[in-house]
Amino acid sequence: RKLVTVPSLGALKAQAEKITMLTCYDASFAALMDRCGVDILLIGDSLGMVCQGHNSTLPVSMADMVYHTASVARGNQRCLVVADMPFGSYSTPESAMHNAVQLIQAGAQMVKLEGGAWLAPTIQFLTERSVSVCAHLGLTPQSVHQMGGYKVQGKTTEAADILIKDALAVQAAGASLLVLEAIPKELGQQVTELLAIPTIGIGAGVDCSGQVLVMHDLLGVFPGKKARFVKNFMDGQTNIDDAIKAYVAAVKDGSFPAPEHCF
Ligand code: KIV
Ligand code: NA
Repeated sequence: RKLVTVPSLGALKAQAEKITMLTCYDASFAALMDRCGVDILLIGDSLGMVCQGHNSTLPVSMADMVYHTASVARGNQRCLVVADMPFGSYSTPESAMHNAVQLIQAGAQMVKLEGGAWLAPTIQFLTERSVSVCAHLGLTPQSVHQMGGYKVQGKTTEAADILIKDALAVQAAGASLLVLEAIPKELGQQVTELLAIPTIGIGAGVDCSGQVLVMHDLLGVFPGKKARFVKNFMDGQTNIDDAIKAYVAAVKDGSFPAPEHCF
């Protein structure tokens, strides 16, 4: 299988081949996901919940992200490696650059930040300095207190319009990828058709350019309340490789997410 690079993501969208992303936090799972054909490994700050046992992503530090990013990079050969910038690590363009450099030097090829138009100057600052950026809109878990919980976003016309403007702003600022989390299926489709860059959905419908899941949710090992967009791919499988391959196949052929996983 071919190396997944930042430019090759755009080519996948152009060819209408779905992009598969999974969260990954260590070297062994990186090697496993690599050989199962996953395109992108995301070192998500969800590690604060699934690895560290916190009830939000807010306590995750830069040191935590660097440690897990370096572990994943050592296990990976072919996948694109994207690392989340944790809460508070990108409040100014300069601090974002300083922290992104640490993640890139740990082995990430791209960094992910949560936010829209307000982040555009930071995204431009990073991309001009050779740091590729994935933006994240919709349900942005680092804003849990402002959102008043983990809730579906972009449901009203006004909220959908703001999200569309945010998506255009992060693209114009230089983002090369956009994660859309927990928004109506139609809005996911609309944003994907409007943008040139690929979108990766999690609870954003089947029309996004690709999908992402937290690996613990895919394997059915996360003890918390299961979100609507989650599917346990261990159902009907006897080993983890087959579950990951089933996820990759279901994303590629458009059978995941099904209507019951969407808003
Ligand atoms: O932290 C994470 O795992 C994420 C994905 C759910 C997109 O940001
Ligand atoms: Na995240």
